[in-house]
Amino acid sequence: MAEMAIPDTPVNGPLTRRARRRRYLMCPPDHFAVTYEINPWMDVSRPVDAALARAQWEHLRRTYVDLGHTVELVDPLPGLPDMVYAANGAFTLGGRALAVRFRHPERAPEAPAYAAWLAAAGLQVTEPVAVNEGEGDFLLAGDWLLAGMGFRSDPAAHAEAQELFGIPVVSLQLVDPRFYHLDTALAVLDDRTVAWWPPAFSPGSQAVVRRLFPDAIEATEADAVAFGLNAVSDGRHVVVAAAAHGLRAQLADRGFVPVPVDMSELLKGGGGAKCCTLEVRSEEVA
Ligand code: ARG
Repeated sequence: MAEMAIPDTPVNGPLTRRARRRRYLMCPPDHFAVTYEINPWMDVSRPVDAALARAQWEHLRRTYVDLGHTVELVDPLPGLPDMVYAANGAFTLGGRALAVRFRHPERAPEAPAYAAWLAAAGLQVTEPVAVNEGEGDFLLAGDWLLAGMGFRSDPAAHAEAQELFGIPVVSLQLVDPRFYHLDTALAVLDDRTVAWWPPAFSPGSQAVVRRLFPDAIEATEADAVAFGLNAVSDGRHVVVAAAAHGLRAQLADRGFVPVPVDMSELLKGGGGAKCCTLEVRSEEVA
């Protein structure tokens, strides 16, 4: 994809990072609510402010557009309060999409809606066999596909993704139920850099991440709990939870440009900025 012409913003670090223009899919929060509990953040007795959720989501969408990215929308369906978390709709690469199969029946009807959108957008969609929750558990990091397991996606789905996309899949074991999707515990900042909270992973998986990413940014538990790692990077700008103050400073120190957003209302469903965003990699790669 073409490099973006972005006016230079002062950075603290020695590096000037390069942004790449992205294509994102989002789902408006028309039906967002907490009507069931499938992760430790969800509490049906705690009311959701629909107007505030809408404003926060709209601000996120606007942020991407202002950064020069393309944002497309999938129609929200009544009765599917979690459909706003578009990251769980698929994983895409090189014009292909692996559709999803949700762990919990409450979210199952979202899968065909996302698959249909991607097919209509011209992607070649493959139906999954094993449970996989899309970009919630599959994160592309350069030549690797990092893949979470332990709470949602089945390890068998990792093999399916490797076979379909032909890129090496690195399975990572999640161990803390608060960080039930990979994208809640680890953010890919560019092809070589991730930010993460190590205790969310098994000891062996921690060693794997350290081996692949010796320059990884280690977040604090406070920033991880603020969903700071549920961040979206274009290689330069990192859209990150405003409350993750330490992580914002760490990002700036490393030459990234943190772009804070407040997703507190969406956090009641257990998701932040990244959860609300699916990257559509529609271009075929050589
Ligand atoms: N309530 C949703 C669930 O538990 C939140 C999904 C968050 N998405 C994500 N990519 N982490 O399934």
